[in-house]
Amino acid sequence: MNLVFLGPPGAGKGTQAVGVCEKYNLPHISTGDILRGEIKQQTKLGLEAKKYMDAGQLVPDEVVIGIVASRLTQPDCQNGFLFDGFPRTLPQAEALAEKVEIQMAVNIDVPDENIINRLSGRRVCKSCGATYHVDNHKGQTCDSCGGELIQRTDDAPETVANRLKVYHEQTSPLIDFYQSKGVLKSVDGTRSIDEVFAEICAILDKEFSK
Ligand code: AP5
Ligand code: MG
Repeated sequence: MNLVFLGPPGAGKGTQAVGVCEKYNLPHISTGDILRGEIKQQTKLGLEAKKYMDAGQLVPDEVVIGIVASRLTQPDCQNGFLFDGFPRTLPQAEALAEKVEIQMAVNIDVPDENIINRLSGRRVCKSCGATYHVDNHKGQTCDSCGGELIQRTDDAPETVANRLKVYHEQTSPLIDFYQSKGVLKSVDGTRSIDEVFAEICAILDKEFSK
């Protein structure tokens, strides 16, 4: 299974990717997580990427394409993978298509009006990166590792507005890109986390049992 998850910021790509990768035994490749890891380690790449991320802008294509190219050479990608947050521009999608065949792009569809609440209430574990929402998680610590829960710096309302604008301008054209390749599946991402998960699994089971 070579999969891509598409969707606006806060659609639930990361939340769903964790469950899907566990169930189907796939590596979860989130370019956002990789970049945040670089920032944490204060690498040159991380310090450069932080400027774009804090402004809600995309990190330049060549940087992200380079990260992904190197990740794809690792042995765990040989039997499939799930990309979360990549590709995000047409040049990224074209660069990916030159390297591997994408068998399915799952578009998690959530309108802008739901996004602000999702991102303003999101909390992530500083240690393991697990994601929660204040509406259904009380307390300041991570259920899985006990780490401290923090807010992502790019979840500030003004940055979220910019991320949504960038999504509509640069990333949403990928819906047509994958539609034209006949591999697009859309799911209604406004339903509960469990309902969205069940629908994605049903689509994957049907498609990959052929
Ligand atoms: P990235 O980390 O990829 O952020 P994003 O795409 O903006 O998406 P998010 O991680 O914010 O949302 P998500 O869809 O994963 O939602 P989540 O599951 O957390 O990228 C960050 C930055 O890095 C970019 O802005 C850019 O600068 C850079 N970058 C990364 N990739 C790049 C690339 N390819 N090219 C260039 N630059 C790149 O859920 C959100 C919240 O909602 C959580 O609180 C969750 O609990 C809750 N929730 C989830 N599902 C549901 C549901 N069904 N119902 C109710 N609540 C829900
Ligand atoms: Mg995410």
